[in-house]
Amino acid sequence: MSHHSLEFLNVSFRYPDGYTALRNISFRIEDGEKVAVVGANGAGKSTLIMLTNGLFMSSEGAVFVGGMKVSKRSLTSVRRQVGLVFQDSDNQLFMPTVAEDVGFGLYNMGFSKNEVEERVGKALKSVGADGLGNMSPHRLSGGQKKRVAIAGVLAMQPDILIMDEPTSNLDLQARQQIIELIRSFSHTTLIATHDTGLIKQTCNRVLILDKGQLVAEERVVSHQVDLSG
Ligand SMILES: Nc1ncnc2c1ncn2[C@@H]1O[C@H](COP(=O)(O)OP(=O)(O)OP(=O)(O)O)[C@@H](O)[C@H]1O
Ligand SMILES: [Mg+2]
Repeated sequence: MSHHSLEFLNVSFRYPDGYTALRNISFRIEDGEKVAVVGANGAGKSTLIMLTNGLFMSSEGAVFVGGMKVSKRSLTSVRRQVGLVFQDSDNQLFMPTVAEDVGFGLYNMGFSKNEVEERVGKALKSVGADGLGNMSPHRLSGGQKKRVAIAGVLAMQPDILIMDEPTSNLDLQARQQIIELIRSFSHTTLIATHDTGLIKQTCNRVLILDKGQLVAEERVVSHQVDLSG
């Protein structure tokens, strides 16, 4: 089923300075699957993530979201489906208050004030950030920013959830909350992470990147709860 699938077909990506960060990447994530992408610092995880919603466009090959090719023409539609949480939350937060930030996309989509407030409240609660609504985002701690950035994406109720290092900066309680959230998110999910506990608890498959190449793919045996984690 290609409904909310994500597919990379022979994708290469070169940065403007000529550096090739991804080489000939192909994989397919089926509707509802949860997949992790791992690899050393600089392996290309964040670059790959940026290609999923057209923030970067592939130099060669193609990316498909729900069967639709990511291109300039399909961008609005792609971004409606794909919710992306950046590695660095500072890139995601820019409004005067947390509540406005979390509601930003919803206002843009034409939701009423009441609907926005309801969804924002729910999203903030789900990441344990209720109470932060009136704060200025740049006054928050790193972990609080992360929670708010995640809330902003969840508020949009995306069909495909893409997260770059969702548990970095988080305290143990927030990390567990995010893990539970990912587990309860029933749609397609792709997570770039170094957090093996997170992978074991949420993902059914792992893509391994090495110097811009997809070198292996492994199944995660069970969604066991790893208390060492
Ligand atoms: N704007 C850029 N211009 C040129 N090269 C870049 C740029 N951004 C990243 N790179 C290079 O692309 C490669 C992949 O970077 P990327 O950020 O995707 O790695 P990553 O796997 O996410 O690493 P990390 O685990 O540190 O987050 C690195 O070698 C990096 O130096
Ligand atoms: Mg990265």
